[in-house]
Amino acid sequence: MEISINKDSKSASLKAAKLVAELISKKPDAVLGLATGGTPLELYDELVRMHKNDGLDFSKVKSFNLDEYLGLPASDPASYRRFMDENFFDKINIDKANTFIPDGLAKDARAHCAEYEEKIRAMGGIDLQVLGIGADGHIGFNEPLSSFSSRTGVRVLAPETLKDNARFFGGDENKVPRLAISMGVGTIMDARKIVLLAFGKSKSEAVEGMIEGPVSAFIVASILQFHESAHVFIDEDAAYRLTRKDYYKWVENANVF
Ligand code: F6R
Repeated sequence: MEISINKDSKSASLKAAKLVAELISKKPDAVLGLATGGTPLELYDELVRMHKNDGLDFSKVKSFNLDEYLGLPASDPASYRRFMDENFFDKINIDKANTFIPDGLAKDARAHCAEYEEKIRAMGGIDLQVLGIGADGHIGFNEPLSSFSSRTGVRVLAPETLKDNARFFGGDENKVPRLAISMGVGTIMDARKIVLLAFGKSKSEAVEGMIEGPVSAFIVASILQFHESAHVFIDEDAAYRLTRKDYYKWVENANVF
């Protein structure tokens, strides 16, 4: 795991955007794995800026989102399809036909999940997966105790996640769908590179468990310790519980990556 501790979310997001841009420059038809939520917004803003000012070209890029709420139509203001269109896809030159997000209205959710996995495989697998982390250590909607080898499937959201995500549903946690389709932990681990972002004190316990804790399905993100190319970009608040902060900064400053 490579840890980058930054003064704020903006500087962390700029570094993460650089990794994404480098990949697209080297491989114009790269397959990105994307996340929603508050965390990646500055990353998407920077990629939009790079597209507008530096000509970063998304025309051949393909993308797969981590998850979608079950039961929400794409047109719902809280759907992840709407989120991605409004915050990213509508602002760059990606071909929308190449942007894949699980269908919250899939009639046969199990078959739809198997097709999603198959589509990822058929496109050559995910080159770079962007992740946030839940305060309970989830990645995607893989909540505590999710199997490390799970594939895309239907997930039950944990009570903490319902509370955390109420802000996208007018503050009412009763309006947050209880179920979602999510890539599995195994699906995420298959990505060739992982870029995880985490900001703020509310994420500090999960970040501590992910980086310094034992690998345990109790903090699902801790499995990233086994990934050969996992890059973690956090701010000082998210890092404040880490015991070896100076060491992580030392390694980053050695500049060998
Ligand atoms: C989003 C996702 C989730 C979020 C996590 C953090 O597609 O899969 O795992 O990354 O819940 O959410 P925010 O960024 O809103 O704190």
